[in-house]
Amino acid sequence: MKPQFSTFAAMIKKPLLFLPLFALACSAPNKDNMEDVVNVYTHRHYETDKALFALFEKESGIKVNVVMADDDELLSRLDAEGANSPADVIITADAGRLGLAEQRGFLKPIHDSTLEANVPAHLRDPEGNWFGFTMRARVVAYDKNKVAPEELMTYADLCSPRFKGQILVRPSEHVYNQSLVAAMIAHFGIDSATSWCKGIVANMARDPKGSDTDQLLAIGEGLGSVAIVNSYYIGKLMKSDDPARQKAKNAIAVAFPLMQNDREGEVLTPGIGTHVNISGGGVAAHAKHEANAIALLRFLSSDASQAAFADGNMEYPVKPGIPAAAVLQGFGRLIPDTLDLSELGRHNAEAVKALDAAGWR
Ligand SMILES: [Fe+2]
Repeated sequence: MKPQFSTFAAMIKKPLLFLPLFALACSAPNKDNMEDVVNVYTHRHYETDKALFALFEKESGIKVNVVMADDDELLSRLDAEGANSPADVIITADAGRLGLAEQRGFLKPIHDSTLEANVPAHLRDPEGNWFGFTMRARVVAYDKNKVAPEELMTYADLCSPRFKGQILVRPSEHVYNQSLVAAMIAHFGIDSATSWCKGIVANMARDPKGSDTDQLLAIGEGLGSVAIVNSYYIGKLMKSDDPARQKAKNAIAVAFPLMQNDREGEVLTPGIGTHVNISGGGVAAHAKHEANAIALLRFLSSDASQAAFADGNMEYPVKPGIPAAAVLQGFGRLIPDTLDLSELGRHNAEAVKALDAAGWR
């Protein structure tokens, strides 16, 4: 059986073609119900996911239809479609966005012993609206010729005058930064998080621009000595043979900063680890193929899928006992912050305010 990516993926890229999908949901619900299909709305755009969906189709006989789009676009689409939405599974690359999807009524709580056994409690919604199936740490890549690892024990260390003009980071509109700040708000409150944002802005090497990968490449170019990035981008950089990436590859090492309060010298909560976020999914509120949706989520939390996420996409598996990719393990040990990730969605609006107040563009 061939995966059906092209049709659905093409639709989402063209907003004007929104109606056909809508029509599909309205015109043929009965036929659709009898078919073994699962309709997936996903923000993830990785080859690993395509391969896993194809494997799921082969093993289960359930056809996977994929709509791929930006997460805000997916949420708008779900809003417009309402109860007619054909979505069975919603997947995003951020717990904050999953929290927003839940708040807006797009997800349905699921209680499933397999999912609950495979996904640790802090990496899923307490009510079962969503489940993480990969973990990504927001770490600091640094130029090992210019920075010593002990200078980056905490996120607060980045605010030191030592890093004046040295920090590379993407814009604040990106949810990875918003979720990092949301985690700080959950731990330490809005004032503390705002002052951390101000400290980062004061030390920026340039106005924020580009992707996480662009920040890594900028280290290679000597434009700054520290970059706040998600771990899998570093893994992918290290695996790349692209000659244009060699300078960055040769220069970079990785620090796993701990969450700490930013008040100088004061350690309020020792042992809070490195900020992690998840990529995950849940069953859509108006899913017409709920059993198939649960089967797919279970499959994504299985040993084989978890290993594929680790090796193929350099993400940390959520299921205990499945090792991270060797290249990531080589950078050091991740001690994940065990904050309940449903907090990220809860504090997203405040995080945006803190970033704005700090002038983080
Ligand atoms: Fe990403």
